[in-house]
Amino acid sequence: MLLGHFSELTEHIDIKVKSSVLGLVPTMGALHEGHLSLIKKAHMECDKVIVSIFVNPTQFNNPDDLTKYPRTLDQDLDAINSVSKDVLVYVPTVEEIYPEGAEAEHFEFGTISKFMEGEYRQGHFDGVGTVLKRLFEVINPDRAYFGEKDFQQLAVVRKLIEITGQNVSIIGCETFRENNGLAKSSRNKLLTLEEKEQAGIIFENLKYIKSNFRDKPLLEILEKVKNNFEDSPLFNLEYCEVADEKDLIPAKKIESDKNYRAFIAAYCNNVRLIDNMSLN
Ligand code: PAF
Repeated sequence: MLLGHFSELTEHIDIKVKSSVLGLVPTMGALHEGHLSLIKKAHMECDKVIVSIFVNPTQFNNPDDLTKYPRTLDQDLDAINSVSKDVLVYVPTVEEIYPEGAEAEHFEFGTISKFMEGEYRQGHFDGVGTVLKRLFEVINPDRAYFGEKDFQQLAVVRKLIEITGQNVSIIGCETFRENNGLAKSSRNKLLTLEEKEQAGIIFENLKYIKSNFRDKPLLEILEKVKNNFEDSPLFNLEYCEVADEKDLIPAKKIESDKNYRAFIAAYCNNVRLIDNMSLN
């Protein structure tokens, strides 16, 4: 069922009283199998599920990126219905989420928000924190579901809950991939078939890091990844880092007692793709 406004949402808010567990899957639409797997998981684990679809202006540091972001509401509704007709879909307006104007609040997330996405998309995590704080306030879910493709975002959301004291369990879910390893993402809709095929380069390089990072010097591995991308005419590497999973500070060398994760962001034409892989 589609809910466009707060009033419609509050009409259904008694679901919270009647049901013991309310699950939220926050999205920006252009849903893919990764999102659907989150919705299915939420549907299995919760008594009632709300999917929010809102392209959040405050998390885009690049206005062009916001304009180009794919919007496919009719297909999204069909896809959600294919999981279950019981799922509620909340599609608010910008005015409803930001009655005082679309401004991001600043949060002190610490080191987890400083590097990689935090460095290259200034203000992005403040925008994500602002919209989620608002959605959690309005919907008051017991559980909220996020994909590990945005691993840094997942860490930020866990921190957000600590900061705001909102009582929501944050559930991280495994990345869904195409056959060539490309992580499913709404932005993949902006790639040609050829670009999609070539985009397996990201997963290949993450796997290369995983196979080599305990045996070769880290800087040599990162240099090799940089060269691999330079040899590929379609892709421009923005960053490749191996970071401690706890503080998300990029490492210069590997210490045996720490757990690490590799992170890549790359452009294919103007489409920005990110991915990561646990190295444990
Ligand atoms: O991952 C996303 O789609 C967005 O960052 C989120 C969590 C829906 C907040 O706008």
